[in-house]
Amino acid sequence: MKILANDGISASGQQKLEAAGFTVITAKVAQADIANYINENSVEVLLVRSATTCRKEVVDACPGLKMVGRGGVGMDNIDVAYATEKGVKVFNTPASSSQSVAELTFAHLFGMVRFLPDSNRQMPIKGTTDFNNLKKAYAKGTELRGKTIGIIGFGRIGQSVAQYALGIGMHVIACDRITGVVKVNIEINGQRIVVPVSTISMEELLVKSDFISIHVPKQSDGKPVLGAAEIAIMKDGVGLINLARGGVIDETALLDALNSGKVGAAALDVFENEPTPNAALMTHSKISLSPHIGAATEEAQDRIGDEIAEIVIDFYNK
Ligand code: 3PG
Repeated sequence: MKILANDGISASGQQKLEAAGFTVITAKVAQADIANYINENSVEVLLVRSATTCRKEVVDACPGLKMVGRGGVGMDNIDVAYATEKGVKVFNTPASSSQSVAELTFAHLFGMVRFLPDSNRQMPIKGTTDFNNLKKAYAKGTELRGKTIGIIGFGRIGQSVAQYALGIGMHVIACDRITGVVKVNIEINGQRIVVPVSTISMEELLVKSDFISIHVPKQSDGKPVLGAAEIAIMKDGVGLINLARGGVIDETALLDALNSGKVGAAALDVFENEPTPNAALMTHSKISLSPHIGAATEEAQDRIGDEIAEIVIDFYNK
């Protein structure tokens, strides 16, 4: 039985599948050729990350397709309901990458408050000739400890971000579709601490936060969660972080707010037009950038590969 892992799979996940008798193909098939490739090679399982899409056309064109697996969280690149209705099992691995996304959130946050993104751009150009002016330009940093971080979307990733935030002494507030008290578990040197965080309204969160990190899926109507109206009620100089999906923060509204100073700094790992994001975002001195690598750590990809292997093996053993 053949599996096409079109966006790759960890070595350990591949080994587990091969040991169970599956053939794992890791060739990168162009999006337009996927249906043909699946049919010509009798592929029954298509594995994707975010780069490959599996829309209804692929499902319709591939009657032999039995499973579509998303190695990761976001399923916006798959027509999940349609495929399921056609009898294709669709799955993701929602728990495996939270830690990695949370750590990248903090990589951006720590950099942002000390102007590291721009400093890293300017030092190679002016570091040897204009050191003192650069020192002055980046001298008004701030500390994260004691500041309030508002987390929009308090699921696995949001709660992971909260663990790190609490660990460095930030005040955490959160909002979510599901309201209530969430017990955030932190383990320090083998000691377990449980910190209850009550969800509040998004409006209250927007007003009170020094930094806002958003961890929600792409909205079904495609609309941003944070646009000009939401930014307007935020604190002046707020820091915004989006490692969730391109467009959940309106990119035009964000650029306007960065240029006016309403938003002090932003961090973006995801973009509306991946893989060709807006150039104005790429060159903005107040934006910390990464190319959609939130889940791209060795550890997360190993966990994801292992989880995929277990799900596929289970499915075929039933
Ligand atoms: C996810 O939804 O899991 C993340 O955005 C990671 O996407 P990637 O697998 O393409 O890195």
